Amino acid sequence: MANNFLEVIKNRKSVRSFTSELVCDEKIKEILECGMAAPSAMNTNCVEFIVVKNKEIMNKLPQMLEDCAVAIVVCANVEKQKKEAYWLQDCAASMENMLLAVEALELGGVWIAIYPEEERMKTACDLLNVPNHIKPVAIVALGYENEKENLKYNYEEKKIHSEKWI
Ligand SMILES: Cc1cc2nc3c(=O)[nH]c(=O)nc-3n(C[C@H](O)[C@H](O)[C@H](O)COP(=O)(O)O)c2cc1C
Repeated sequence: MANNFLEVIKNRKSVRSFTSELVCDEKIKEILECGMAAPSAMNTNCVEFIVVKNKEIMNKLPQMLEDCAVAIVVCANVEKQKKEAYWLQDCAASMENMLLAVEALELGGVWIAIYPEEERMKTACDLLNVPNHIKPVAIVALGYENEKENLKYNYEEKKIHSEKWI
């Protein structure tokens, strides 16, 4: 089990092309549970989620991939966590947890940035009727992978510094 989990982490990659197959609600819930299981600075749990399945709305979201099945918009509730650096990190932790869940469920997904691109933020806020205290940060676009991508290997010894930076 532990080994499988490590493989899931190492095999995760961005998928940007999907089949037309829909993703069932159980899998979406599983992904959201993983998103909410992420660590949170001072345990504010400031991350909120907008699940978009409606194609008409989805296709107007920033950078949205035409054929993805679901878009999960990850937002920060800045009334719960006022420090930007912390709500951003909370959202990033949640994003990564969900991308790993997507991989584990044999789906494909990609991180689409919203914050700090002002145009993308405005588009998302207007489209999704987002109130002022909620900042949309990024989207997990997901679905069934169209073509299996090649595995990559990112490990580089030179990025590791032992004891001190040399
Ligand atoms: C903060 C952040 C923002 C990203 N924004 C986008 C985006 O707007 N559109 C996109 O197609 N991919 C986006 N990506 C995915 C990266 O392009 C991708 O992770 C990177 O090319 C490495 O590929 P891999 O995910 O397959 O390892 C983003 C990733 C991160 C971490």
